[in-house]
Amino acid sequence: MSTLKAVRGTRDLLPPETKLWQHIEATAREVFARYSFGEIRTPIFEDTQLFARGVGEETDIVSKEMFTWEDRARAQSEKAQSLTLRPENTAGVVRAYIEHSLGESGHLQKLYYIGPQFRRERPQRGRYRQFWQIGAEVLGPPSSGSESPLRDAEILEMLAAFLDQLGIRGRKLILNSVGSSSDRPRYIAALREALAPVKSQMCADCQRRADTNPLRVLDCKHPEDQAILASLPKIADFLDDASRAHFASVLAALDACGVPYQVNPRLVRGLDYYTRTTFEFVLESTEGGLGSQNAILGGGRYDGLSEMLGGPRAPGIGFAIGEDRLVLTLQSQREKAAAEVNPAANNPADNNAADMSRVTAGTPALLADAYIAPLGEAQNIAALALARDLRRAGLTIEVGDGSFRLKKSFEFANALARHIVILGEDEAATSIYTVKTFSNGEQQKIPRNELLSLLQS
Ligand code: HAM
Repeated sequence: MSTLKAVRGTRDLLPPETKLWQHIEATAREVFARYSFGEIRTPIFEDTQLFARGVGEETDIVSKEMFTWEDRARAQSEKAQSLTLRPENTAGVVRAYIEHSLGESGHLQKLYYIGPQFRRERPQRGRYRQFWQIGAEVLGPPSSGSESPLRDAEILEMLAAFLDQLGIRGRKLILNSVGSSSDRPRYIAALREALAPVKSQMCADCQRRADTNPLRVLDCKHPEDQAILASLPKIADFLDDASRAHFASVLAALDACGVPYQVNPRLVRGLDYYTRTTFEFVLESTEGGLGSQNAILGGGRYDGLSEMLGGPRAPGIGFAIGEDRLVLTLQSQREKAAAEVNPAANNPADNNAADMSRVTAGTPALLADAYIAPLGEAQNIAALALARDLRRAGLTIEVGDGSFRLKKSFEFANALARHIVILGEDEAATSIYTVKTFSNGEQQKIPRNELLSLLQS
């Protein structure tokens, strides 16, 4: 019989790698809490209309990447409905904001989320069909300060703090302003006009986009199209005074809090809801391990999204980090760092950073404090009771089995723990244990009341 495998573009996350995911998520929660963000969890599937209206019918995401199905009515009281696995979480957050009238408090809503998203893209390293995002959104009625350029700078500074705390190297913030909802139509009209005489010389995607969604042409990565792209009008020349002033204030605030950036006039991003500030953090090519998928996060302002979804005016800004890409980056940067510190080390088990990057499935991320080896099955119960006491005292304990021969217990203990505690009939009777410490090879007899401190050492 053929074996079943995870579906193309999806994957299992296994220990010890999941330790690194937990570390990243714990860091995000800790950093975001310092900026007063609270967690929101929205459903993984939503009404298809949410994404069609929010993200935009003509975007790649909606036009070709969504997992959508017709959900049959199961009772007379239910209606059949088109549902979609969320390809991103911003639209869901804004829907929840509207549904729960969160704006009525008059305060800014600062919400973060961590969860899987789904896009039917061509899978490759750093690009999956189920992937994880860590994202955050700040939105509220204009009177709450939601339109202020300070919000933009604060979010970007928070991201810099988060990436610094994780120790990510070689990141670069690129940003742009795509203008207000009145600037954009003027720019799009100019783009269409400029594209009309040259589009036939461009790639097939650009030819299509030039008609359906000209802004997306600016995203084209085809080398042959770059010269034409460089000659197209720039959005910066179409911003009205208010958008221009807003962007200048964002940049000034970034300068004031020491967040370096690069303005890229072609950064328009792949979702239709953006207005004014858009940004990405990308990795320098030498620091990534990500290849072409070098955007570790993206985001921007969406001042009209709430109204597009039938809600009140609620300007906002947010971002989503590709957690899969962050994990790949940290793994490759940590492996590189461990190799630089000790090029000869092939089992850097004592090095926490290197430890986290060990990705061999089936081995633990971190060594347990002790492995208790019962000698003979009669000692199994005593082993479990000792493990219970040590675990309640805060130690990480592995327990073997009395059916194992001593040699096998030592092999397992050496792979899994820093110490082995041998528990035979004598040890159980006297409460004096034989303990071996693998780092120095020392073996000693230890009374129960000294065991804890030895195993902690
Ligand atoms: P996005 O640029 O579509 O924006 O996605 C954000 C990040 O998610 C990307 O920079 C990338 O790191 C990661 N990502 C996207 N697709 C994949 C994939 N197939 N596999 C792995 N990682 C992927 C958004 O989703 C917006 N909702 C961000 C936002 C929040 N804007 C305002 N608020």
